[in-house]
Amino acid sequence: MATSFQVLILNQISANGLKRLPAERYTSGKSIESPDAVLVRSADMHKMDIPASVRAIGRAGAGTNNIPVKAMSARGVPVFNAPGANANAVKELVIAGMLLAARNLRGAMDFVGKLDPADPEMEKKVEDGKKTYAGYELAGRTLGVVGLGKIGCLVADAALKLGMNVLGFDPEITVDAAWSLSSQVRKAASLNELLKHADFISVHVPLLDATRNMLNADNITHLKHGAVILNFSRDQIVDEQAVLDALDGKKLAAYVCDFPSARINAHPKVIALPHLGASTGEAEENCAIMVAEQLRDYLEHGNIQNA
Ligand code: MLT
Repeated sequence: MATSFQVLILNQISANGLKRLPAERYTSGKSIESPDAVLVRSADMHKMDIPASVRAIGRAGAGTNNIPVKAMSARGVPVFNAPGANANAVKELVIAGMLLAARNLRGAMDFVGKLDPADPEMEKKVEDGKKTYAGYELAGRTLGVVGLGKIGCLVADAALKLGMNVLGFDPEITVDAAWSLSSQVRKAASLNELLKHADFISVHVPLLDATRNMLNADNITHLKHGAVILNFSRDQIVDEQAVLDALDGKKLAAYVCDFPSARINAHPKVIALPHLGASTGEAEENCAIMVAEQLRDYLEHGNIQNA
């Protein structure tokens, strides 16, 4: 008879992923007392008492900062994730983020929402809107990609295809071979150099002690006038006060981020989204499948991938 495993499912996880954990071997819901494993998307596990029975944790996403990885390692509990499984979804939203800023789309949409179709002045108002919300094109502009992992590389590639110049900086990459992703991505010698030359800066590093507040009051002063920062990684990587100051000082034209934050949401030059980067059916399914297969492989055979 097959061994039965109980996996505690903490968030909504794609059904095609859950199928990879054979039905008789998992139970969803928070009522299990002694789960063998936990499958989580966004729930903050730092705040939870993780039962001693847990032998493995699966994160249906790339980042693992919502999981106490060090404490789990000390207990010998591997944490599996799904690097790259949602990279395409994030890449597409980053491109949308650049367009939102460059083409003033949020202001333009709000403007249209307030128009009264019965207004006899409608035509004139639309003409005014065309002037007020005129933007600029991405082609020919420079995108600075900070962090050239799976998502950063896809973003760099998409930007090149849109006719942009791409400057890359990755504190982890020291070997030139790692830059073989595209010879058209120019390597910035430092973060400050990237900030100095980029019209758009997109951050794609994981949240680590070394990357917390990586963009801060000291280096934001190096920004090119009128630059746009995009943060589809983690909010703590960019110092919000430094962003607000740069927006008010007009050095920064817009901050596009994938996290609502009471402190900055209301600023007219902040475009904030509710962590939508990986929220596509495709990405959710890819992540769920990748992580469920790793959990199964570990629980059944003790094999470890991606932990
Ligand atoms: C990730 O780390 O890949 C994202 O946070 C995924 C998600 O939105 O769940």
